[in-house]
Amino acid sequence: MIRLHLADRFDTGAFADLFSPPGEKRAYKLFKRRDQNGLPDPHQKDHELMRRAICDSEIAAYRLLQSHPHLAHHAPQFFGHAPVTDVLDSEGRSIKDDYLLDCCYCMSHIQGRAEKVSGGREKLPHAASLLREFEQVGISYVRDCSAFFLCDPVHICLIDFGIEDRHGQLSEEIAMNGKLSEKQMARWSRPLGDSPRAASG
Ligand SMILES: Nc1ncnc2c1ncn2[C@@H]1O[C@H](COP(=O)(O)OP(=O)(O)OP(=O)(O)O)[C@@H](O)[C@H]1O
Ligand SMILES: [Mg+2]
Repeated sequence: MIRLHLADRFDTGAFADLFSPPGEKRAYKLFKRRDQNGLPDPHQKDHELMRRAICDSEIAAYRLLQSHPHLAHHAPQFFGHAPVTDVLDSEGRSIKDDYLLDCCYCMSHIQGRAEKVSGGREKLPHAASLLREFEQVGISYVRDCSAFFLCDPVHICLIDFGIEDRHGQLSEEIAMNGKLSEKQMARWSRPLGDSPRAASG
């Protein structure tokens, strides 16, 4: 049972919030249900399913990495899919409806500052070849990833990659048809399944 506290949120991205409970050197990437810009979203349900598809793609990429230790070394240690039961605000009230509780994974918490790799990859041969190696083993969505220690060929550590560009693929479907296809809806409506490597690992 994983309960997260808003006070332990240390960063936020376009899709997810990052939490690090005290005493744990771990980071939980928990996907948000919606953009927190307060604007109504006519495609809310589709966007929710898209986030689940993105989370699944990221988890699949981390799982794939485990068979390539020399590459896994350049990403946070992966502790598995980590479905969350609740998220509490500073007053102890549940804010779980803001999140897709099944869309969470756990990894080591890297100390430092992450920067987007894109744009820099041509200039840094070691980063370019690392991204190519990720792609070669099936982690084909590296375009949006960030890196800690970007300039250090030995310690460079990538985050935010996936096996596919699910955001691109599903956005295109929504743009073309006004909604997700029945097939994708069926695929992403169910919560992500528990993993044998779930959080305690
Ligand atoms: N394992 C980690 N250790 C430390 N910080 C992390 C870790 N994972 C993510 N972060 C921090 O959280 C930020 C957001 O994470 P991430 O990029 O994975 O989220 P996202 O919602 O996919 O964001 P983006 O808008 O970049 O696509 C990162 O830029 C980084 O600063
Ligand atoms: Mg991202």
